[in-house]
Amino acid sequence: MLDNSDLILVAGATGGVGQLVVAKLLDNNLPVRALTRNKNKAKQMFEDRVNIVVGDLRYPDTLTSAIENVTHIICCTGTTAFPSQRWDFVNFFDAKNSPQIVEGEGVKNLILAATKNLKRFVFVSSSGVLRKDSLPFNILNTFGVLDAKLYGENALKNSGLPYTIIRPGRLIDGPYTSYDLNTLLRAKTDGKKAVVIGTGDTLNGETSRIDVANVCVECLNYELTINQSFDIINSGKRPEVIDWQQLFSQIS
Ligand SMILES: NC(=O)c1ccc[n+]([C@@H]2O[C@H](COP(=O)([O-])OP(=O)(O)OC[C@H]3O[C@@H](n4cnc5c(N)ncnc54)[C@H](OP(=O)(O)O)[C@@H]3O)[C@@H](O)[C@H]2O)c1
Repeated sequence: MLDNSDLILVAGATGGVGQLVVAKLLDNNLPVRALTRNKNKAKQMFEDRVNIVVGDLRYPDTLTSAIENVTHIICCTGTTAFPSQRWDFVNFFDAKNSPQIVEGEGVKNLILAATKNLKRFVFVSSSGVLRKDSLPFNILNTFGVLDAKLYGENALKNSGLPYTIIRPGRLIDGPYTSYDLNTLLRAKTDGKKAVVIGTGDTLNGETSRIDVANVCVECLNYELTINQSFDIINSGKRPEVIDWQQLFSQIS
């Protein structure tokens, strides 16, 4: 069980899923460190309620202080699957923040920076990593986003760290980038659909960012999710209360 002697590092804390993860951790009175490239953006979002550390997955030197005293890492960094400004183009052929650089090498840098006594490394991967040759994932993977996610997954599995890999479908709900933390905590999934968990990259569908954030935090309380990879989508009628124990019991 998580308690307030733990320190949870959220990489990608200012992103769509990341900010919801931070909100959920704070709601549970857990100490949070937010890893960001943009201190002002994080300060605006989280005020002084989290410990903000500036770092960039591309540069291992910037990660050393970020992981100090950290007991858990939740990594929800990402960039766009298709070329965009967020790839940080130097010229037409050279992007400084492409999927392979962030999701592949960058995630590996964070894994290598993590201390060996880390209690858990949670990695938000993607649906389709094991189906890259079939529609629609072959199109999604045109610029290698799924190759990069799989590279990150394998680096984590081979690291010896206790891990949980989460593979959501296409994300819905949010990002809630202009909201404050209190509004984030009240965010409800528009789809109002149940959480479905599967294994082997077999599920198809959309996933609420709220439920990805929920599962990133909830899995830390369940030992049966250690060293497991699972898929998550939303489908069917949402129950009043989500039974995480029952959902996680399906994966091991
Ligand atoms: N979109 C989908 O349909 C989909 C489907 C399946 C899985 N996923 C995965 O789900 C996760 C969350 O997605 P999202 O759309 O909620 O995320 P998002 O809003 O795109 O946020 C991505 C985060 O990554 C950070 N980041 C980017 N490059 C970085 C770098 N070099 N070093 C450190 N941080 C960096 C960004 O920080 P800055 O604020 O500094 O840019 C941002 O906080 C991602 O891992 C994504 O790949 C997405």
